[in-house]
Amino acid sequence: MPADMKEIYALRADTIDYFFPERDKEIEHWADIAAEYGDDILHVMCGTGELTVGLAKNGFSVTGLDFTESMIYQAKDRIEDEGLDNVEIIKGDARHFSLNKRYDFVFVSTGDFHHFTKREELDSFLAKTYAHLKPGGALGIELYVPPDEDFKKSGRKYGPLRKPPQGTTLWRRNEISYHSEKKILEITEEFHYEDNGDLKEGEYDILLRLFSKIEIETILMDAGFDDVKHLEGSNFSPYLPGEYSNTWIIVAVKE
Ligand SMILES: C[S@@+](CC[C@H](N)C(=O)[O-])C[C@H]1O[C@@H](n2cnc3c(N)ncnc32)[C@H](O)[C@@H]1O
Repeated sequence: MPADMKEIYALRADTIDYFFPERDKEIEHWADIAAEYGDDILHVMCGTGELTVGLAKNGFSVTGLDFTESMIYQAKDRIEDEGLDNVEIIKGDARHFSLNKRYDFVFVSTGDFHHFTKREELDSFLAKTYAHLKPGGALGIELYVPPDEDFKKSGRKYGPLRKPPQGTTLWRRNEISYHSEKKILEITEEFHYEDNGDLKEGEYDILLRLFSKIEIETILMDAGFDDVKHLEGSNFSPYLPGEYSNTWIIVAVKE
């Protein structure tokens, strides 16, 4: 994971929600999956907590974990606005967390699992997650499958999917390359956000490690999980402009 990942997300914290489509269906989808395992949920890399809070509003008891201060700030604000007491946000690194609780369902949404570009990061996250699950609990991971066309759309400037407030200009532009031998998708992105004269700009590189089905199954089994299921057809990945990609959710159980 590049060392500046926190800086990238700090830059994007107050605009990231605009780059997601409306999320009601996504919340419903995760709620349906989680309900099979129980009420206590951990949402790893929860960002501004839109999904985290959405699940709490569905009656689950939810913990969100993230390492970017400004994301946590937004998530806590959201909780306060909703007046909820069944959701908390904890600052921590997904690769090294230690919480005083065990969960029925741990999940990583929106392709965030792809941020683990090194095998040791991934193994460390899986070991931590396994230790935080109750027996019979499950891990859900939403993975991203880039359609071929997306590789040809590189260099496009694109705007948010939800309308930002008046007086703001917001766009991103990215160049995408795929390093097939390492299964690394490299996204070099320019970011521009102008809010009534205040300007935030930046350019950064995001590396995402892609997986084949067989590979991810093997990784999960090696980490001690059983009963790996693939649930296809969700459609939420925020990483590329234009049409959202076909993604898949993989669920693995701790026996
Ligand atoms: C795309 S945003 C999250 C969106 C969120 N999953 C959602 O569904 O709304 C990615 C988040 O991952 C967090 N993140 C990245 N690497 C992390 C790590 N190693 N530990 C904790 N949080 C991390 C960033 O701070 C950022 O808030």
